[in-house]
Amino acid sequence: MKKVLSGIQPSGQLTLGNYIGAMQNFVKLQHSEECFFMVVDLHAITVPQEPAALREQSEAVAALFIAAGIDPAKANVFVQSHVRAHAELGWLFTTLANMGELERMTQFKDKSAGKESVGAGLFVYPTLMAADILIYNADLVPVGDDQKQHLELTRDLAHRFNTRFGNYFTIPDPYIPKVGARVMSLDDASKKMSKSNPNAGSFIALLDTPDVIRKKISRATTDSGREVKYDPANKPEISNLICIYSHCANMTIADIEARYEGQGYGPFKKDLAEHVVSVIEPLQTKYNDIRNSGEIHQILKQGAERAAVIADRTLADVKERMGFLPPR
Ligand code: TYM
Repeated sequence: MKKVLSGIQPSGQLTLGNYIGAMQNFVKLQHSEECFFMVVDLHAITVPQEPAALREQSEAVAALFIAAGIDPAKANVFVQSHVRAHAELGWLFTTLANMGELERMTQFKDKSAGKESVGAGLFVYPTLMAADILIYNADLVPVGDDQKQHLELTRDLAHRFNTRFGNYFTIPDPYIPKVGARVMSLDDASKKMSKSNPNAGSFIALLDTPDVIRKKISRATTDSGREVKYDPANKPEISNLICIYSHCANMTIADIEARYEGQGYGPFKKDLAEHVVSVIEPLQTKYNDIRNSGEIHQILKQGAERAAVIADRTLADVKERMGFLPPR
C-alpha cells in the first residue's frame, strides 16, 4: 500500500479545476492506498485572509472533500493547522532551502509580480508544502500540473536531508491526470481556471447553482470556427471544454469529437453544461447534508488525531537526526 498525501487551500471557492485536477484522483486513490487529505489553512494565510472567511472556507473545503466522495473511514481528512508538527517541520525545511531555488518558483513569481510588498510566507510556501508531504513519507502526491515544480523542490529537499542527515525520507512522485491536469479559464484559455480570479465567469465553482453553471458555459469563450476538435495548440478554448466534458461525462475525447461532428458549438456546449450539472448537483446535495449535520468536526478531529501520531514521530526522528537536544 502506498502513502498518498495532498492538500487544497481554503482560500476562496473550490472550482471544477480543483475537482478534475486533484479531487477526482483523491477519490480514486483512497480505495487502494493509505491516504491523507488536508485543508491547508497555513498555506492560505500566505496571502491575507479575513478570519471569519478563513474559518468558513476551511469547513467548506473539508465538507467538499466528503461530498466529492472521500470516505473518512478510508482516508484521513484533516486540517493542516490541527497537526502542529507540519508548521515545525516546515521551519526545519526552510533552513535547508536556498533563496535561489525559492525565487525560481513560478507560483511565487506569479503571485508576487508587480506587488510592492510581498509576504515572506509566500516566499517560503514550498518548504511548508515539502513538510506536508514528507512528514508522512508519502509516495504519491495527486495534484494538478501547477504544483509540479513544488513537487520537484520537495524531492530536492528530501534528497538534501537524506544526504546530510542519513537516509530517511521517501522521494515522492507527483500523480497528475493525463487529461485535465490544467483546466483553463472559461474566458481566457491561456490562464488556468482559478478560484482567485476576480471574474467569476472565468471559473465554475463547485457550489455554483445549476443555472449559473449553464450560463457560464454558454458564455464561455470559443474560437470563431464550428468544429468540435481537440487541438490545444490551435483551438485552446474548445479543447479545454472537451477536456471538462470528458471528465464529467466519462467519455473519451474521440467519442466526444465523433458525437458532435458537423453540429457546431451550440449543442456541444448545451450538453456539456448538463454533464457538469450532473456531476455537481449530487455533490452539492451531499455537501448541504454534511454541513447541516455538523459531522465534519468529528471527521476532522479523528483525521487529525490519526495523522498526528505519524507526523509527531517523523518530527521527533528528524529533530534527533538534526541534533536538537531532546527535552528530559
Ligand atoms: P491549490 O489549493 O491551489 O489547488 C488544489 C489542487 O487543485 C489543483 N488545481 C488544478 N488542477 C487542474 N486545473 C486547474 N485549473 C487547477 N487549479 C488547481 C492544484 O494543482 C492542486 O493539486 N500548494 C497547493 C496546496 C498544498 C499541497 C500540499 C498539495 C499544500 N500542501 C501538499 C499537495 C501536497 C495548492 O496551492 O493547491
